[in-house]
Amino acid sequence: MKQIDRLRSLGLFDARVPRYTSYPTAPVFSPEVGAAHQVKALAALNPDEPVSVYLHIPFCERLCWFCACRTQGTKTLSPVESYIGTLEQELALLKDTLPAGLRMGRMHWGGGTPTILPPHLIHRLAQAVRAVIPPTEDHEFSVEIDPTMVDPDKIAALAQEGMNRASIGIQDFDPKVQQAIGRIQPFDVTRACVEDLRAAGVHSLNADLVYGLPHQDIARMDDTISKVLELEPDRLALFGYAHVPWVSKRQQLIDEEALPKEVERYELAKLAAQRFKDAGFDAIGIDHFARSGDTLARAARTGHLRRNFQGYTDDTCPTLIGLGASSISRLPSGYVQNAPATAAYIQRIESGTLAGSRGHVMTEEDLLRARVIEMLMCDFRINRPALRQVFGDTSNIVDPLIAQVATRFSDYVELSENYLDISRAGRPLTRIIASWFDAHVPDGVKYSQAS
Ligand SMILES: C[S@@+](CC[C@H](N)C(=O)[O-])C[C@H]1O[C@@H](n2cnc3c(N)ncnc32)[C@H](O)[C@@H]1O
Ligand code: SF4
Repeated sequence: MKQIDRLRSLGLFDARVPRYTSYPTAPVFSPEVGAAHQVKALAALNPDEPVSVYLHIPFCERLCWFCACRTQGTKTLSPVESYIGTLEQELALLKDTLPAGLRMGRMHWGGGTPTILPPHLIHRLAQAVRAVIPPTEDHEFSVEIDPTMVDPDKIAALAQEGMNRASIGIQDFDPKVQQAIGRIQPFDVTRACVEDLRAAGVHSLNADLVYGLPHQDIARMDDTISKVLELEPDRLALFGYAHVPWVSKRQQLIDEEALPKEVERYELAKLAAQRFKDAGFDAIGIDHFARSGDTLARAARTGHLRRNFQGYTDDTCPTLIGLGASSISRLPSGYVQNAPATAAYIQRIESGTLAGSRGHVMTEEDLLRARVIEMLMCDFRINRPALRQVFGDTSNIVDPLIAQVATRFSDYVELSENYLDISRAGRPLTRIIASWFDAHVPDGVKYSQAS
């Protein structure tokens, strides 16, 4: 059987499985774990251990049709300005809750489009966060940048506030593809943004690309990649297009007939990975690439790569505090998600409580399964001695599942006394293999395709 047919027979094109940016995944969070749990867990944080902070800006000036992110369109600044006021109120509530002396090791602004904020709001927000959780000496501050929604003044304001990493949205440079996804972004505009970021002293740049978009073919993808490489990013994310119009209504504008078929999608991802490898990038996990001197590549080489809601990270900090609508906090006891809808989030904060509305309290077994899934997603390996070191005897839960996976995926995994390894050819199956260790598969939730 041809390689592609063998992968197909193992579900590559049919399986609908999570991307495992967390385990358990957000759809299984329970409304019983909300603000009360959030307050208790935040108050109990160890002040000597720096935390990471994620801040969500759920606004965009234009709504790209392909996008599945939680965001809303606005042509005026007034809802954005009033949202910043709500974030300040959320921070004031946090201040009353957090232990004194807590510091912030990392901060990430995502969205939506954080660069919809004009300079005065950038300063206001950054200062409000710092006043509640002061940064450590070596802290990292990264921001998602839409090159069509930014200017040198905004970049200067972010750099003044300490931004030292940026992630720019590209997706695809081909005009026909851009038209089909409702996102017009000329190459020159993107290049100017990259130059402005570098001139402002931001030397770590990531670029987001998407494969599987309408009208993408090998020639167009090849051309996009050549242009992306001209920009000399340090990191690349290559996401498979998640077509989920039942979740993201704007995707109903996407012409499904123009979407590449499953094998074409697979070939597009393969081409991109090969081009990045040829250009000197290391492959990181299932969908990232990094120059080998980059901290992400070093983390991958040394077994310190982690998976979080933004994808892959070298951030080993166990606690992530999410601020803003829909953001998820990862706390020592589990996950808490703020109210996903912006109006509901604002209402909760204005009523004087934190906005946690759903979550999950981790059991010992959840923690073990979460680490197994993270190992597979990051290292393509289950390291049994490393699991035993943290969790003690894991054999009753992990061993039977490893045995089942080894049988089912025998062509693509290798089993030895200490490790289960996914082979290079089997890597497209990683999400499917990880899902075998998931005990919380929710009823009726449809995920995007696994390839
Ligand atoms: C919050 S957006 C990026 C920031 C900024 N708003 C921009 O557009 O440049 C995060 C990234 O998620 C990815 N993304 C969004 N929707 C997606 C989908 N349906 N499938 C795969 N990736 C998607 C895109 O690569 C996008 O750059
Ligand atoms: S891709 Fe970025 S700009 Fe476009 S809708 Fe999504 S978050 Fe907004």
